[in-house]
Amino acid sequence: MEELICRKATISDIFKMVDDDLMTGAYDNSFASSQINLIVDRIKENLAITYVGTLNDEIICEITAAISPIAILNEVNNTLGLVDNKTAYLFNILTKKEYRNHGYFTKLLQYVLDDLKSKGYDKVTLGVDVSNKKNMSIYKNNEFNEHIKSVKKIYGKNNIVEIEYLGRKI
Ligand SMILES: CC(C)(COP(=O)(O)OP(=O)(O)OC[C@H]1O[C@@H](n2cnc3c(N)ncnc32)[C@H](O)[C@@H]1OP(=O)(O)O)[C@@H](O)C(=O)NCCC(=O)NCCS
Repeated sequence: MEELICRKATISDIFKMVDDDLMTGAYDNSFASSQINLIVDRIKENLAITYVGTLNDEIICEITAAISPIAILNEVNNTLGLVDNKTAYLFNILTKKEYRNHGYFTKLLQYVLDDLKSKGYDKVTLGVDVSNKKNMSIYKNNEFNEHIKSVKKIYGKNNIVEIEYLGRKI
């Protein structure tokens, strides 16, 4: 595996990531483009920290940690149990397609956990579409074993998705 360098994203990284189809809210980059000011503001206001992994200076994966419920009001209907002064919520989790299944998410996650622990957090949470068996398996293998809650979300007219929120200690 090529050496992944992990660090916090700068504001100029965020603009570049939107251009490069990262920062997608995992699914829809046009959404990220329209929300760029909000994404930048939540970093500037210390509501969230975006972490990136790079290979030869190319950003190939990202994880954002919400450290305030305000950071995820657009993502999560009810933030209860997901973010508090000891718990960070991970979202915008993405590895560029051509780099998937090389352990890069797992490596960036370890960096994120180490950094959050040094800031006094002792737990992280995230939400996963229960029908996405692959993601579910990746998270279980990374010790996300605590079931927090399951919520049905409606996308569009009648697309219902069940999201399970999982947690793990740091
Ligand atoms: C989910 C996602 C971020 C995972 O990223 P990734 O970098 O591929 O993750 P990893 O490589 O760490 O782990 C993926 C698999 O590769 C395996 N793997 C780990 N290290 C490996 C290595 N060195 N060589 C080969 N495979 C490896 C892992 O075991 C894992 O398999 P598993 O299903 O058995 O657990 C990525 O698939 C993605 O961007 N998906 C689309 C967006 C999305 O769904 N985001 C999450 C929203 S909740």
